[in-house]
Amino acid sequence: MTRGLFISFEGIDGAGKSTHIERVARLFREAGRAIVLTREPGGTPLSEKLRELVLHEPMDALTEALLMFAARREHLVQVIEPALARGDVVLCDRFTDATFAYQGGGRGFDWQVLAKLEHMVQGLPDGALRQPELTVWFDLDPLIAAERLAAARVPDKFESQPADFFAAVRAGYAKRQAENPSRFARIDAAQSMDAVGADVGRVVSDWLRQAAA
Ligand code: TYD
Repeated sequence: MTRGLFISFEGIDGAGKSTHIERVARLFREAGRAIVLTREPGGTPLSEKLRELVLHEPMDALTEALLMFAARREHLVQVIEPALARGDVVLCDRFTDATFAYQGGGRGFDWQVLAKLEHMVQGLPDGALRQPELTVWFDLDPLIAAERLAAARVPDKFESQPADFFAAVRAGYAKRQAENPSRFARIDAAQSMDAVGADVGRVVSDWLRQAAA
C-alpha cells in the first residue's frame, strides 16, 4: 500500500496560498493519488462550528488558543489520521504552525504553553508528534498582503488586524521555520502568481523525490 502523506500550507492572510493548494492537489490527482483537501480551523462539522466562533467572536487569548487546538484535535481524529492510515495525501490549508504564528507571534501568547498543547493534541501512541512532513510557507511582506486583501473581501477578525500584527505573525512563522528547518519550505510569495506556482511545484516534486529515495 502507498504511504500516506501530510502536507500543510501556511502564510499570513493575503499571501495567496489557496490557488496554489488547488494546483498541488491536481498534481497528486494526476499521479493517481487519493487526496484529502482540508483546512484549519475546520475540516469536520464540529471544527467548522469552532472556526465560525474563533474567526468572528472577540475572546481571551487562551480561549482562542484552546479553541484552535480543540478544532485541531477533532480534525486529526476524524479526518487526518484515518486518511493517512488509508494511504491518502492530506493537503491542509494551515495547521499548528498557524497557531504558533498567530496566537504565539501575533497575539504574544506563551510559546511554551502552545508547545505543551501541541504535544497534548498531536501526540501519537509511540510518543512521536503528528506533524506535516512538508510545510509550504508562503512568505510575504505584510504591507503587500494588506494591499491584496483590501482588494479582495470583507475581512474577518484576523484579517482586520493592523500591519504590525502581521509583521509579528510573520516573525512567528520564521521562528517555527528556524525550529523545524527540514520540514519547512519557504516560498517568496511576492513574485507573480505563475512564479509562485512554479516554485511550489518544484518544492513539492523535490520533496517527493527525496521522500522516495
Ligand atoms: P484562512 O485560512 O486565511 O482562510 P480564508 O482564506 O477562508 O480566510 O483563515 C483562517 C484564519 O484563522 C487566518 O486569519 C489565520 C487564523 N488562524 C489562527 O489564528 N490560528 C490557527 O491555529 C489557525 C489554523 C488559523
